Amino acid sequence: MGRRILPKLDPAIDYSGHLRELAELEEGFSIQALFPSPQPLEVEVGSGKGLFLATQSEASPHHNFLGIEIAKKYARFAAYRLAKAQRANARMIRGDAQVLFSKFLSEASVVAVHIYFPDPWWKARHRKRRIVNENFVRQIERVLQPGGTLHFWTDVHEYFETGCQTIRAASQLAGPHDVRISEERGEHTFRTHFERRMLNNSQPVYRSQFYKS
Ligand SMILES: C[S@@+](CC[C@H](N)C(=O)[O-])C[C@H]1O[C@@H](n2cnc3c(N)ncnc32)[C@H](O)[C@@H]1O
Repeated sequence: MGRRILPKLDPAIDYSGHLRELAELEEGFSIQALFPSPQPLEVEVGSGKGLFLATQSEASPHHNFLGIEIAKKYARFAAYRLAKAQRANARMIRGDAQVLFSKFLSEASVVAVHIYFPDPWWKARHRKRRIVNENFVRQIERVLQPGGTLHFWTDVHEYFETGCQTIRAASQLAGPHDVRISEERGEHTFRTHFERRMLNNSQPVYRSQFYKS
Protein backbone atom coordinates (compact mmCIF):
# COMPACT_ATOMS: atom_id res chain seq x y z
CA MET A 1 0.00 0.00 0.00
CA GLY A 2 0.99 3.61 -0.26
CA ARG A 3 2.78 5.51 2.46
CA ARG A 4 -0.14 7.78 3.29
CA ILE A 5 -1.03 8.03 6.94
CA LEU A 6 -4.36 6.50 7.87
CA PRO A 7 -7.02 8.72 9.46
CA LYS A 8 -7.24 8.61 13.26
CA LEU A 9 -9.61 6.03 14.68
CA ASP A 10 -12.37 7.30 16.94
CA PRO A 11 -11.80 5.52 20.30
CA ALA A 12 -15.57 5.46 20.87
CA ILE A 13 -15.98 2.95 18.02
CA ASP A 14 -15.51 -0.62 19.24
CA TYR A 15 -14.33 -2.66 16.25
CA SER A 16 -13.25 -5.73 18.22
CA GLY A 17 -16.27 -7.68 16.93
CA HIS A 18 -15.21 -7.00 13.35
CA LEU A 19 -11.58 -8.12 13.61
CA ARG A 20 -9.96 -11.47 14.34
CA GLU A 21 -6.35 -12.64 14.31
CA LEU A 22 -5.90 -15.62 12.04
CA ALA A 23 -3.25 -17.09 14.33
CA GLU A 24 -5.78 -17.13 17.20
CA LEU A 25 -8.48 -19.14 15.41
CA GLU A 26 -8.72 -22.64 16.76
CA GLU A 27 -8.41 -25.58 14.38
CA GLY A 28 -11.73 -26.38 12.72
CA PHE A 29 -13.09 -22.87 13.31
CA SER A 30 -16.07 -22.20 11.04
CA ILE A 31 -15.75 -18.92 9.15
CA GLN A 32 -19.55 -18.55 8.98
CA ALA A 33 -19.50 -18.35 12.80
CA LEU A 34 -18.03 -14.84 12.40
CA PHE A 35 -21.38 -13.61 11.08
CA PRO A 36 -24.82 -13.36 12.72
CA SER A 37 -26.39 -15.44 9.96
CA PRO A 38 -25.03 -17.91 7.43
CA GLN A 39 -25.22 -16.35 3.94
CA PRO A 40 -23.27 -16.84 0.69
CA LEU A 41 -19.67 -15.92 1.44
CA GLU A 42 -17.42 -13.57 -0.58
CA VAL A 43 -13.74 -13.25 0.34
CA GLU A 44 -11.46 -10.33 -0.48
CA VAL A 45 -7.73 -11.05 -0.43
CA GLY A 46 -5.59 -8.06 0.63
CA SER A 47 -8.40 -5.66 1.56
CA GLY A 48 -6.16 -2.67 2.29
CA LYS A 49 -8.29 0.11 3.74
CA GLY A 50 -11.52 -1.78 3.15
CA LEU A 51 -13.36 0.34 0.59
CA PHE A 52 -14.58 -2.66 -1.39
CA LEU A 53 -15.89 -4.43 1.73
CA ALA A 54 -17.64 -1.30 2.97
CA THR A 55 -19.44 -0.63 -0.32
CA GLN A 56 -20.23 -4.21 -1.30
CA SER A 57 -21.50 -5.27 2.13
CA GLU A 58 -24.00 -2.44 1.92
CA ALA A 59 -24.96 -3.20 -1.69
CA SER A 60 -25.38 -6.96 -1.04
CA PRO A 61 -26.83 -7.36 2.47
CA HIS A 62 -27.72 -11.01 1.78
CA HIS A 63 -24.09 -11.99 1.28
CA ASN A 64 -21.39 -12.21 3.95
CA PHE A 65 -18.05 -10.50 3.20
CA LEU A 66 -14.73 -11.51 4.69
CA GLY A 67 -11.56 -9.49 4.20
CA ILE A 68 -8.17 -11.03 4.86
CA GLU A 69 -5.33 -8.55 5.23
CA ILE A 70 -1.78 -9.27 6.33
CA ALA A 71 -0.85 -5.73 7.43
CA LYS A 72 -2.08 -5.00 10.96
CA LYS A 73 -2.74 -1.30 10.48
CA TYR A 74 -4.85 -1.87 7.36
CA ALA A 75 -6.76 -4.81 8.84
CA ARG A 76 -7.52 -2.66 11.89
CA PHE A 77 -8.58 0.33 9.79
CA ALA A 78 -10.86 -1.78 7.55
CA ALA A 79 -12.46 -3.42 10.61
CA TYR A 80 -12.97 0.01 12.21
CA ARG A 81 -14.61 1.26 9.04
CA LEU A 82 -17.00 -1.73 8.94
CA ALA A 83 -17.83 -1.36 12.65
CA LYS A 84 -18.48 2.37 12.24
CA ALA A 85 -20.88 1.61 9.38
CA GLN A 86 -22.47 -1.12 11.57
CA ARG A 87 -22.02 -3.80 8.94
CA ALA A 88 -23.17 -7.11 10.41
CA ASN A 89 -22.33 -8.95 7.17
CA ALA A 90 -18.67 -7.92 6.89
CA ARG A 91 -15.65 -8.97 8.95
CA MET A 92 -11.86 -8.73 8.79
CA ILE A 93 -9.22 -11.30 9.62
CA ARG A 94 -5.61 -10.21 10.10
CA GLY A 95 -3.27 -12.75 8.59
CA ASP A 96 -1.98 -14.47 5.47
CA ALA A 97 -4.64 -15.28 2.89
CA GLN A 98 -2.79 -18.44 1.88
CA VAL A 99 -3.10 -19.82 5.40
CA LEU A 100 -6.76 -18.78 5.69
CA PHE A 101 -7.66 -20.60 2.49
CA SER A 102 -5.74 -23.79 3.15
CA LYS A 103 -6.71 -24.15 6.83
CA PHE A 104 -10.10 -22.51 7.31
CA LEU A 105 -12.07 -22.41 4.06
CA SER A 106 -13.74 -25.66 3.14
CA GLU A 107 -14.39 -26.99 -0.33
CA ALA A 108 -17.15 -25.18 -2.27
CA SER A 109 -17.85 -22.75 0.60
CA VAL A 110 -17.30 -19.42 -1.19
CA VAL A 111 -19.29 -17.71 -3.97
CA ALA A 112 -16.66 -15.16 -4.95
CA VAL A 113 -12.98 -14.47 -4.39
CA HIS A 114 -11.77 -10.91 -5.02
CA ILE A 115 -8.12 -10.02 -5.59
CA TYR A 116 -7.70 -6.33 -6.35
CA PHE A 117 -4.29 -4.80 -6.99
CA PRO A 118 -2.20 -7.46 -5.24
CA ASP A 119 1.36 -6.45 -4.33
CA PRO A 120 3.31 -6.66 -7.63
CA TRP A 121 6.71 -7.75 -6.29
CA TRP A 122 8.44 -6.08 -9.22
CA LYS A 123 11.89 -7.66 -8.96
CA ALA A 124 12.21 -10.97 -10.81
CA ARG A 125 13.74 -12.66 -7.77
CA HIS A 126 10.74 -11.64 -5.63
CA ARG A 127 8.01 -12.79 -8.04
CA LYS A 128 7.64 -16.10 -6.23
CA ARG A 129 6.05 -14.08 -3.41
CA ARG A 130 3.11 -13.06 -5.60
CA ILE A 131 -0.28 -14.13 -4.28
CA VAL A 132 -1.49 -15.26 -7.70
CA ASN A 133 0.65 -18.38 -7.69
CA GLU A 134 -0.14 -21.98 -8.61
CA ASN A 135 -0.76 -23.25 -5.08
CA PHE A 136 -3.04 -20.38 -4.16
CA VAL A 137 -4.97 -20.66 -7.45
CA ARG A 138 -5.62 -24.35 -6.62
CA GLN A 139 -6.91 -23.28 -3.21
CA ILE A 140 -9.20 -20.69 -4.81
CA GLU A 141 -10.61 -23.29 -7.19
CA ARG A 142 -11.18 -25.69 -4.30
CA VAL A 143 -13.07 -23.22 -2.09
CA LEU A 144 -15.26 -21.78 -4.87
CA GLN A 145 -18.72 -23.20 -5.33
CA PRO A 146 -19.77 -24.29 -8.82
CA GLY A 147 -20.79 -21.06 -10.55
CA GLY A 148 -18.47 -19.09 -8.22
CA THR A 149 -16.30 -16.24 -9.48
CA LEU A 150 -12.69 -15.15 -9.15
CA HIS A 151 -12.06 -11.45 -9.76
CA PHE A 152 -8.44 -10.50 -10.46
CA TRP A 153 -7.60 -6.85 -11.20
CA THR A 154 -4.23 -5.15 -11.35
CA ASP A 155 -2.51 -2.09 -12.79
CA VAL A 156 0.59 -4.14 -13.70
CA HIS A 157 0.25 -5.44 -17.24
CA GLU A 158 2.93 -8.11 -16.88
CA TYR A 159 1.34 -9.41 -13.63
CA PHE A 160 -2.05 -9.44 -15.35
CA GLU A 161 -0.72 -11.56 -18.24
CA THR A 162 1.26 -14.00 -16.12
CA GLY A 163 -1.47 -14.10 -13.44
CA CYS A 164 -4.13 -15.05 -16.00
CA GLN A 165 -1.77 -17.67 -17.45
CA THR A 166 -1.17 -19.11 -13.99
CA ILE A 167 -4.91 -19.28 -13.27
CA ARG A 168 -5.53 -21.10 -16.56
CA ALA A 169 -2.60 -23.47 -16.10
CA ALA A 170 -3.27 -24.38 -12.46
CA SER A 171 -7.07 -24.67 -12.54
CA GLN A 172 -10.13 -25.46 -14.60
CA LEU A 173 -11.54 -21.99 -13.96
CA ALA A 174 -13.04 -20.54 -17.15
CA GLY A 175 -11.72 -17.18 -18.31
CA PRO A 176 -10.39 -14.59 -18.38
CA HIS A 177 -13.65 -12.83 -19.15
CA ASP A 178 -13.70 -9.08 -19.67
CA VAL A 179 -15.21 -6.87 -17.03
CA ARG A 180 -17.39 -4.03 -18.22
CA ILE A 181 -17.28 -0.94 -16.09
CA SER A 182 -19.42 2.14 -16.12
CA GLU A 183 -18.03 5.17 -17.94
CA GLU A 184 -19.47 7.38 -15.23
CA ARG A 185 -16.79 7.79 -12.61
CA GLY A 186 -18.10 9.03 -9.30
CA GLU A 187 -16.46 8.25 -5.97
CA HIS A 188 -18.84 5.35 -5.35
CA THR A 189 -17.98 3.63 -8.64
CA PHE A 190 -14.40 2.78 -7.60
CA ARG A 191 -14.13 -0.68 -6.13
CA THR A 192 -10.93 -0.05 -4.19
CA HIS A 193 -8.57 2.70 -3.12
CA PHE A 194 -5.97 1.47 -5.56
CA GLU A 195 -8.39 1.58 -8.44
CA ARG A 196 -9.24 5.18 -7.54
CA ARG A 197 -5.57 6.09 -7.34
CA MET A 198 -4.75 4.51 -10.72
CA LEU A 199 -7.64 6.08 -12.55
CA ASN A 200 -7.09 9.51 -10.97
CA ASN A 201 -3.52 9.29 -12.28
CA SER A 202 -4.75 8.13 -15.73
CA GLN A 203 -3.05 4.75 -15.28
CA PRO A 204 -4.56 1.69 -16.98
CA VAL A 205 -6.33 -0.99 -14.96
CA TYR A 206 -6.54 -4.60 -16.19
CA ARG A 207 -9.60 -6.51 -15.03
CA SER A 208 -10.48 -10.18 -15.36
CA GLN A 209 -13.15 -12.55 -14.12
CA PHE A 210 -12.99 -16.35 -14.00
CA TYR A 211 -15.83 -18.81 -13.32
CA LYS A 212 -15.93 -22.24 -11.79
CA SER A 213 -18.24 -24.49 -13.82
C1 LIG B 1 -1.44 -3.01 -3.20
S1 LIG B 1 -2.46 -3.26 -1.83
C2 LIG B 1 -4.12 -3.22 -2.51
C3 LIG B 1 -5.18 -3.01 -1.48
C4 LIG B 1 -6.63 -3.03 -2.00
N1 LIG B 1 -6.96 -4.34 -2.53
C5 LIG B 1 -6.86 -1.96 -3.02
O1 LIG B 1 -7.04 -2.30 -4.21
O2 LIG B 1 -6.88 -0.77 -2.65
C6 LIG B 1 -2.25 -5.00 -1.52
C7 LIG B 1 -2.69 -5.40 -0.14
O3 LIG B 1 -2.56 -6.82 -0.01
C8 LIG B 1 -2.06 -7.10 1.30
N2 LIG B 1 -1.44 -8.43 1.26
C9 LIG B 1 -0.27 -8.77 0.68
N3 LIG B 1 -0.01 -10.08 0.82
C10 LIG B 1 -1.07 -10.60 1.52
C11 LIG B 1 -1.38 -11.91 2.01
N4 LIG B 1 -0.56 -12.95 1.79
N5 LIG B 1 -2.53 -12.07 2.69
C12 LIG B 1 -3.36 -11.02 2.94
N6 LIG B 1 -3.10 -9.76 2.51
C13 LIG B 1 -1.97 -9.54 1.81
C14 LIG B 1 -1.12 -5.95 1.57
O4 LIG B 1 -0.82 -5.78 2.94
C15 LIG B 1 -1.87 -4.78 0.97
O5 LIG B 1 -2.73 -4.17 1.91
